[in-house]
Amino acid sequence: MGGGVYHALQRNGGLISSRLGVKFRVSQVAVRDVSKSRPVDIPRARLTQDWRAVVENPETDIVCELMGGVTTAKAVITTALKLGKPVVTANKALLSACGEELFELAKQRGTSLYYEASVAGGIPIIKVLREALIGNRITRLYGIVNGTCNYILTRMKLEGADFSAVLADAQRLGFAEAEPSLDVDGHDGAQKIGILASLAHGFWVPPAQIHTEGIREVTPLDIQFAEQLGYTIKLIAMVKKFDAGRSGKTTRIQVSITPTLVPSSHVLANVNHVFNAVLVRGDVVGDTLYYGRGAGQDATASSVLSDIADAALDLQCHTEQRVPAFVPHENDGEVVKIDDTISRYYLRLSVVDKPGTLARIAALLGQSKIGISSVIQPEGHEGESVPLILMIHDASFAAMSKALTKIGRLPVIKGTPVLFRVENFE
Ligand SMILES: NC(=O)c1ccc[n+]([C@@H]2O[C@H](COP(=O)([O-])OP(=O)(O)OC[C@H]3O[C@@H](n4cnc5c(N)ncnc54)[C@H](OP(=O)(O)O)[C@@H]3O)[C@@H](O)[C@H]2O)c1
Repeated sequence: MGGGVYHALQRNGGLISSRLGVKFRVSQVAVRDVSKSRPVDIPRARLTQDWRAVVENPETDIVCELMGGVTTAKAVITTALKLGKPVVTANKALLSACGEELFELAKQRGTSLYYEASVAGGIPIIKVLREALIGNRITRLYGIVNGTCNYILTRMKLEGADFSAVLADAQRLGFAEAEPSLDVDGHDGAQKIGILASLAHGFWVPPAQIHTEGIREVTPLDIQFAEQLGYTIKLIAMVKKFDAGRSGKTTRIQVSITPTLVPSSHVLANVNHVFNAVLVRGDVVGDTLYYGRGAGQDATASSVLSDIADAALDLQCHTEQRVPAFVPHENDGEVVKIDDTISRYYLRLSVVDKPGTLARIAALLGQSKIGISSVIQPEGHEGESVPLILMIHDASFAAMSKALTKIGRLPVIKGTPVLFRVENFE
């Protein structure tokens, strides 16, 4: 995407200059291999394999780190920040792992670290949380932030196809990586929701505290049953703010990413293919929604340009900490353990079709004070395995897991139960 940024600057650099009164010049571009042929025509003299030469060049006022990875990228960013140079990055993996440390370094050196492109590509969600909604406490944040998963789930729904068949096709078409785990197992989305949660709530949320589930378990059958019940399955990243509770912590939040049933009439259910969307609820503004392309070099370049413009304005106006990139302001925030969170659930069991099965399952759920709101059991032949779908009323994840362990031990249960959350956006 570095090429996309170069191209966008060539196209609209003049426009930005006329809007800001600041002229941009790409002084140098560091790449891994200068001899490689590139779709964007960058003069050979500007290319170098020595990133240090670019960062330390006295003519470089703003450093853009668009190489990805964590080791060299971290060296690039820390070197620049130590020199007091503002940095623009799109690197969610690095921010997720070391964001707190890097933001602190920027603060110490009186400069800024900009990261609009690190979450949801072209959607300016960082600016929204940093600036536009600064007067709000963020009570809920829901996001479809991984384009690959959204693309796969959309096609599974439209075509009734299997996860693995759609994944293989997505890889062929370039919508999924050859090594898809970062996306389909939820880790990429977890990195992004961790960044948004930290920004929205003012304390750092490390990846280990984010409950992460991917989409491998979702089957065409689940999509079909969900549809019958009026829901669509999406990979939803969420941040929910709770009351102080017994812990006495001022800010308690749930941060998770899970396949989730959302009402088909809800706007997030209709965000399809590679598109991303983020719904932010503020205590003053209410619900707000942001939609756009979550990846791709042009969409992401738009976010990088916005950061470059901000960095330039700050340099011009000597306001390096005008809107600090990340402001720790909650000293005793806490991420609630997933076991203590409450949700409605969709439960799919594979059961032997025989009289009394449902009653035994309902009894085990009842022992854990878990109520069933509806049931679907397609007609089968006695003695055969059939799917049994239960919609479950609000229950804690701990209670649900305990009940599922007991249910799983019943001889009539075949295979592993599948459990997804149901979100009604209340
Ligand atoms: N692509 C997207 O849609 C997108 C969206 C949001 C965020 N991001 C983030 O943007 C970052 C880059 O992703 P990408 O997809 O653009 O990756 P990419 O296509 O692999 O590009 C990486 C670039 O960095 C250069 N590079 C790598 N290691 C280097 C080194 N040691 N020294 C100098 N240059 C080096 C590469 O040079 P060569 O060209 O010579 O190989 C290449 O130009 C990642 O953090 C990613 O998470 C990407």
